[in-house]
Amino acid sequence: MCGIIAYIGPNPALPRIVDGLRRMEYRGYDSAGLALAHEGKLWLRKEVGRVADLASQLRDGPESNVGIGHTRWATHGGVTQVNAHPHTDVTETIALVHNGIIDNTNPLRAMLTSQGVSFRSETDTELLAHLVRKHYDGDPVQAVRDALKHVRGTYGLAVLFAAHPDVLVAARNGSPLVVGIGQGETVLASDPQAVVAHTRRVVYLQDRELAVLTAEGVDVQTLDGDTVDSAIETLDSDYALASKEGFDHFMLKEIHEQPRSIKRALRGRIQVNEGNAKLGGLNMTPRDLVAVQRVINLGCGTSYHAGMTAAMAIEALARVPARAEIASEFRYRHPIIPRDALFFAVSQSGETADTLGAVSEVQLKGGAVMGIVNVVGSTAARTCGRGVYVHSGPEIAVASTKAFTSQVAAMLVFTLMLARCRNLSLEQGQAVASALDDIPSKVAQYLREPGPIDQAVQLIRDARYVLFLGRGYSYPVALEGALKLKEIAYVPCEGYPAGEMKHGPIAMLDPGAPVVFISPDDGQKEKAIANMMEVKARGATLICVHTKGDDEIEALADVSIPVPDTADFATPLLTVLPLQLIAYHVGLALGRDIDKPRNLAKSVTVE
Ligand code: AGP
Repeated sequence: MCGIIAYIGPNPALPRIVDGLRRMEYRGYDSAGLALAHEGKLWLRKEVGRVADLASQLRDGPESNVGIGHTRWATHGGVTQVNAHPHTDVTETIALVHNGIIDNTNPLRAMLTSQGVSFRSETDTELLAHLVRKHYDGDPVQAVRDALKHVRGTYGLAVLFAAHPDVLVAARNGSPLVVGIGQGETVLASDPQAVVAHTRRVVYLQDRELAVLTAEGVDVQTLDGDTVDSAIETLDSDYALASKEGFDHFMLKEIHEQPRSIKRALRGRIQVNEGNAKLGGLNMTPRDLVAVQRVINLGCGTSYHAGMTAAMAIEALARVPARAEIASEFRYRHPIIPRDALFFAVSQSGETADTLGAVSEVQLKGGAVMGIVNVVGSTAARTCGRGVYVHSGPEIAVASTKAFTSQVAAMLVFTLMLARCRNLSLEQGQAVASALDDIPSKVAQYLREPGPIDQAVQLIRDARYVLFLGRGYSYPVALEGALKLKEIAYVPCEGYPAGEMKHGPIAMLDPGAPVVFISPDDGQKEKAIANMMEVKARGATLICVHTKGDDEIEALADVSIPVPDTADFATPLLTVLPLQLIAYHVGLALGRDIDKPRNLAKSVTVE
């Protein structure tokens, strides 16, 4: 979603800001802009479209050592140059970039309008620039502080004053900001990926904090003006300069990284001999684990599907009631938070506003919530305090692939812990542990021989409608396969529990319609075959993802895609792989922007 970058130091700010904007492109955006302070004035450019479009307009940029930049993903107001950030006050000497949403936009806009301010854009951000101006009396820090006293909502913002080129003011409430402290230069960004080119020494701002940036470093205060003694942290080595490593797209690279990323999610956590597992970040003893009477996984999109998959495994192996909930629904339905429940906030980015909102709701009602998070130091990781990092490494493509399998793997590790201290014997625990341990090599084995993906692509690329079906563990995989195809290829499709198909979606099946059936050799296969017959009876074309060597399914399938055999609970880690590849190759065949699909953002930091 939106990205903020700001630079102050001895070097030219313009190329550094453009570089920061490029590094945040993967997050998804529709326009970009920047402002520099130069000789008592602001120099400002903004463009609809890609950062490259903006960069082509910057040839006459002044030599300035301070500036702010932004990639915008439209919320308030359409995708126009006027609505792009930075926004300025009426005198055009204060410029501001903002991530988040101002809740009391209407009264503030009305108040400023009544005081003679005329607005140029439809955004909520513009009013912040006018509000800062209204409170400016020569002190930039006080102006921002006073302005924010009137604001309700979420913000990560950076403010540049033409009259104060030696300082940048930033503030955070609910939208992440990280300050990089370099050698005589300071950078601010909403994403550590934009900081890492300058330094690995960072300070994460917390909610209701304000930061005063100079070339020498940062002074962090509360919004009320109290000094904050922020810890300087070192960015994880995962934050490297993102490279496609010879692949055409990040998505393809990330699909092929899965043997390694799953291995990282499992490494040091599985104890095959003991038939057990250990997750230090949870800090839970066996006594704590047996006290857990239910597990509720909260997440959005792909992370929700990972949560669904894990919930099924928890019920099957640990016999503890478990379910997944869509965070955006959960947070607003006045949920019951049972005292004996353990909640997990499942989020690759750790910045998804709906998931963070659900975490707050659980915490507010006294519940225990832990993170299943990829991005180290992210808001979810910090807010939950305890949890599990999935260690999939930075995921750059907007469509999540390796994060899904790492989330599932990490939650299966938890499942083993929970099950072992309840009802699994040593031998049963060993079987679960070694099934998990074998997954990375099986994923590699599949990716070496992915099967006839091209045949599936030919059937799907021009389809009017594609149905993804699965039962049991394969139902969330069907949802995930359909989500990937929508995101990357924009092909109309849906995922459904196979047994539910006859209650509606079967009406969509024309002769030849592609149906992707996920049917590994698990306890559900017999019933799945009955559903396949129903599909075939309507003349639909059956693309089956199944266990290698399953002649029965192969004989039924029009396109047969085998994956290696594994334990039932681990099948999603293999069956999802062909679906990721199908989405990628259909997107490619249709000429889509694979890594930055339209309208989507990598982390959805607004509701
Ligand atoms: C996945 O391909 C999507 N980009 C999206 O559904 C994503 O999983 C969702 O927005 C949740 O993101 P999170 O894991 O960062 O919280």
